[in-house]
Amino acid sequence: MKHFINLKDIPAKDLRKIVADAKKRKNLRKKLSTLEVDKGAPLKGKLLIQMFEKSSLRTRLSFYLAIKQLGGGTLTLRSNELHLGQGGESIADTAKILSTYGDGFMLRTDNDKKVENFRDHLSIPVINGLSPSSHPTQVLSDVFTVEEIKKKPISNLNISWIGDSNNVLNSLIAASVKFSFKLSIGCPKKFEPGKKVRDWVRKNNKKIFIYNDAKKAVSDADVVFSDKVISLNDKVNKKKKIEQFKKFKIDKKLMNHAKKNCIFLHCLPRGSEVSEEVFLGKKSHVWLQALNRVHVQKSILLYCFGKLR
Ligand code: CP
Ligand code: NVA
Repeated sequence: MKHFINLKDIPAKDLRKIVADAKKRKNLRKKLSTLEVDKGAPLKGKLLIQMFEKSSLRTRLSFYLAIKQLGGGTLTLRSNELHLGQGGESIADTAKILSTYGDGFMLRTDNDKKVENFRDHLSIPVINGLSPSSHPTQVLSDVFTVEEIKKKPISNLNISWIGDSNNVLNSLIAASVKFSFKLSIGCPKKFEPGKKVRDWVRKNNKKIFIYNDAKKAVSDADVVFSDKVISLNDKVNKKKKIEQFKKFKIDKKLMNHAKKNCIFLHCLPRGSEVSEEVFLGKKSHVWLQALNRVHVQKSILLYCFGKLR
């Protein structure tokens, strides 16, 4: 049994194995329809319990399809409908019950400690479906999407991030260490990655490049990533923060500073950080990016259930 909480804590070879398995599985089910089960139904009879403390469209649906296509099933809970959220039942007792009824637990929460707390009390794997500090399933899937489109290892590509230093960027930074790719970040000085993250990168003999100038950050990029300026856990003056990011809007002019065949990716939902023209333009692959979460999450589930080939 393996947990999937933060990319930085998962061995690089395991992450590579998950991406390789997703590629094989995606190819193998080209002719199958949405709910048809993969050959061998590797997770037949298994139940994934999902709990959302925050909104979700993609993560919820992609995990539903992922476990279904592996032969299992899912049940989705909202924490405010449980005793945990309403009547003060402890995480330890809730975790015991989840482990009794289910085989895996996917949690989206606004509290990183809660993921760790569940991990310590569950006897089934826990998957982090987004926390304030990390969005590991999204970013591993994004590595897959980049390699699928570019048809080369991500280590041979220049990746740029224009946006806030949030959970998605933290996971992208971890991925840059694990998959060894060049990462250039463009954001206002005030919103640069924190010391803890930068120290971890340094400790792992890696460098990330931070610019307070969007043009410099995308120069020579093969891929430009972005995300909303205001995240679900952001308790800031929203108007003010959006104003502070004004010079970091991704529009056609900015994309012209990257390589000619540069692609644009965004995990969604989107805000005003990207122009409609770029988001819906030829360089954008955001719909494929969203779809690929199903394929990669299948391999993440297999990894967690100890069934990865
Ligand atoms: N990208 C992503 O995680 O989307 P949801 O918030 O809709 O799950
Ligand atoms: N950074 C965003 C990602 C949403 C999928 C958030 O946390 O809201």
